[in-house]
Amino acid sequence: MAYLTVSGQLVEPLEHITRGTGDWTLYFLCITLAVTPVRKLTGLNWLLKLRREVGLFSFFYAFLHFMTFLWFDHFFDVAEMWKDVVKRPFITVGFIAFVLLIPLAATSTNAMIRKLGGKRWQWLHRLIYIIAPLGILHFWWMKAAKHNFEQPIIFGSIVALLLAMRLYWKFTKTPPAGKTPRAARPADQVSG
Ligand code: HEM
Repeated sequence: MAYLTVSGQLVEPLEHITRGTGDWTLYFLCITLAVTPVRKLTGLNWLLKLRREVGLFSFFYAFLHFMTFLWFDHFFDVAEMWKDVVKRPFITVGFIAFVLLIPLAATSTNAMIRKLGGKRWQWLHRLIYIIAPLGILHFWWMKAAKHNFEQPIIFGSIVALLLAMRLYWKFTKTPPAGKTPRAARPADQVSG
């Protein structure tokens, strides 16, 4: 994206970067949510080790997405940006999702996990169950203005399926397909 922009190959660089970073935030949110279901279905417990990195990539792209908005849409005029956030509901929802991602990223280190304790850390990280649907709502609302529902329906279904699988396992207490992972090290502790 940066290369295409700098080399002048884009007709609408701002739109391209805003949308590209928004798309990648959503892809990484979906991959983060998929780690536990895929691990449980396949028994590939090593996948847990990737979850923190994948989750942090969601935050990284959300941050770039937000900075694109703050920088190129509003030239760091925070008061103007705030007016826009409050005025346009689809941006309000995206903003809430981004703000909720901050504590998850901030508590992703081993030291923070130890400081909070496993239980509290898990509770906090269940915010992902709110963040992902808010991301979908943001996307849906934006596309609704153009009556283009195809992609929001696809991503909405993926997120709904991944969340439904987690809830099903939680309430039926179905054991995972593979071995239960060794007593989770702090870095491996997960929500759901
Ligand atoms: C978890 C947080 C977020 C996710 C998952 C997300 C996701 C997305 C997606 C998928 C798109 C559409 C890309 C496309 O058209 O292909 C988008 C567009 C957009 N988002 Fe976000 N977003 C998030 C947070 C935010 C925040 C915090 C803001 C600003 C405060 C924001 C502002 C926008 C804007 C302005 C657009 C483009 C609208 C247009 O081109 O008409 N988003 N976002």
